[in-house]
Amino acid sequence: MSSQFDALGRMYEEMAELPWRRDLESYTVLEVLGGQAGRSVLDIGCGTGQYCRALRRAGAGRVVGYDISAGMIAHAAEREAGEPLGIQYTTEPPSDGDFDVALGVYVLPYATTYPELVDLCSVAARALAPGGLFVTLPVNPDYAGDPAYYEPYGLRLHEDEPRADASRITLELCFGPYEATISARYWSRCALQSALVDAGFTDVAWHAFRVSPDGLRAHGPAFWSAYLRCPHASLITCRLGR
Ligand SMILES: C[S@@+](CC[C@H](N)C(=O)[O-])C[C@H]1O[C@@H](n2cnc3c(N)ncnc32)[C@H](O)[C@@H]1O
Repeated sequence: MSSQFDALGRMYEEMAELPWRRDLESYTVLEVLGGQAGRSVLDIGCGTGQYCRALRRAGAGRVVGYDISAGMIAHAAEREAGEPLGIQYTTEPPSDGDFDVALGVYVLPYATTYPELVDLCSVAARALAPGGLFVTLPVNPDYAGDPAYYEPYGLRLHEDEPRADASRITLELCFGPYEATISARYWSRCALQSALVDAGFTDVAWHAFRVSPDGLRAHGPAFWSAYLRCPHASLITCRLGR
């Protein structure tokens, strides 16, 4: 299926190296996921596969990256061909029911209706074994309304309509040579929580981001304070009901 992401592979690869992604987001996600030894992981909306590679290198067993964008999957597969790690990439959602972990980083904001939001959460539910862990990062329902707030981190976030479930938001990625506009949807805390429960998840928990010691040393606490006070993303964990 063609998507707004098809031509953005290279930009996403470079974005993975931005301080907020590397030293805060990935650092916290990997911490929350805990030890990977032998665990099977499905990355939903895997993009260029940055998390697939990080998890495989951290010792995960079977790693599958799924994305609806053929362009993103082609980019991820090219990386895999250049540096084989045994990761499988697909544009078809696996429904094996035996994965230990499902990850969905910045994918829920692309559901345009509540049933689509539940469907996306259900992709994780169908893939996981009972009790399996789903870790997902939606847009923070309480993100800062001033579009310039996140500019120091390489992005701007605009609300195109008054904030309500499924209202339109625009994410502008603005770093290095890049200036890309991505359309997404706003989801409230209540809608996110309900969609996860409707898909069969329990123990829904929201986590704070943390900065890695390297990130703190390299950029100093002042750089991080605005983002930590009001992150543009949230980090949610939940478990598939048994
Ligand atoms: C903002 S990118 C994030 C990519 C990657 N997770 C990362 O952290 O860099 C969102 C990705 O979700 C994918 N996506 C959007 N809707 C999807 C859906 N319904 N099913 C699977 N992937 C989807 C897009 O194609 C895109 O690659």
